[in-house]
Amino acid sequence: MRLAIPECSAAAEPAAAATDSGPQLTLQQFLADGFALREQLAEFLGLTAAELAARLPQGKADLARLHPGAFDPERAAAFYEESVGDGHLLELAAWHLGSADYIADTLRLQAHFASGQVLDFGGGIGSHALAAAALPQVERVWCIDLNPRNRAFVQWRAERLGVADKLSCHRDLEAAGLPARFDTLVCLDVLEHLPDPAAQLQIFADRLHAHGHALLNWYFFQGFEGEYPFHFDDPALVERFFRTLQRQFLEVFHPWLITTRCYRPLSAERPTAAPAALS
Ligand SMILES: C[S@@+](CC[C@H](N)C(=O)[O-])C[C@H]1O[C@@H](n2cnc3c(N)ncnc32)[C@H](O)[C@@H]1O
Repeated sequence: MRLAIPECSAAAEPAAAATDSGPQLTLQQFLADGFALREQLAEFLGLTAAELAARLPQGKADLARLHPGAFDPERAAAFYEESVGDGHLLELAAWHLGSADYIADTLRLQAHFASGQVLDFGGGIGSHALAAAALPQVERVWCIDLNPRNRAFVQWRAERLGVADKLSCHRDLEAAGLPARFDTLVCLDVLEHLPDPAAQLQIFADRLHAHGHALLNWYFFQGFEGEYPFHFDDPALVERFFRTLQRQFLEVFHPWLITTRCYRPLSAERPTAAPAALS
């Protein structure tokens, strides 16, 4: 999904709050430079600033061209793990830099709900995982991504941004050492990439604490110009997804005008808390 809705960017500014002694990945820093994204990506890829600037605008088209065309659910994982390589680094960097106001609102949302053990499933270039790791109320961030280049980049960024002691990258949820359950689950712009997003939702429901929150969005659409050929859009798959969502989760209102939703487990009935102050 590639939306930019800057109107509500003047809302509360709690994301990646400064800590007494820890790193300060603030909203202002993200809006200014995506947490040093251009510099870090150029260095990681061994490109000059000019070479990176020339490649960023092509990121989305290059990624779309990589995709073989027709969906093969058996090949979806291999596509992200073996074929994409650096493709998503460039595509996601272009998006996060070009739609920084929209991404910033998802960071505000994350800062409002994130605490304890945080799972970022399909973490990409790490903007959310890194910002979450800098939050004082977050104990640790577990960033999952099938793409080894994404994992290497996020871990490398975490070291440079001073949050490596609170963040680690893993291939999947079966990795050793992961908590059985998480307090916060973040899964942004990933569900439409999965051959069975309903099954993934069920796994999320099983791995989320009763008091936890899940921040989710999805875009089961290949784009008005076919620019997202790797997005699943089968109506039966989408219906299974919504049935599972409505069976397992209850939506929690939040004030940001973005497509990302906040949920709590429906099975764990609990009193609705009074809305917390936004800053
Ligand atoms: C569109 S990107 C979104 C990245 C990030 N969440 C963001 O909002 O910028 C989708 C990410 O999901 C990852 N991914 C795809 N299938 C996955 C799977 N089965 N398990 C873990 N990660 C997966 C891809 O490698 C990619 O980094």
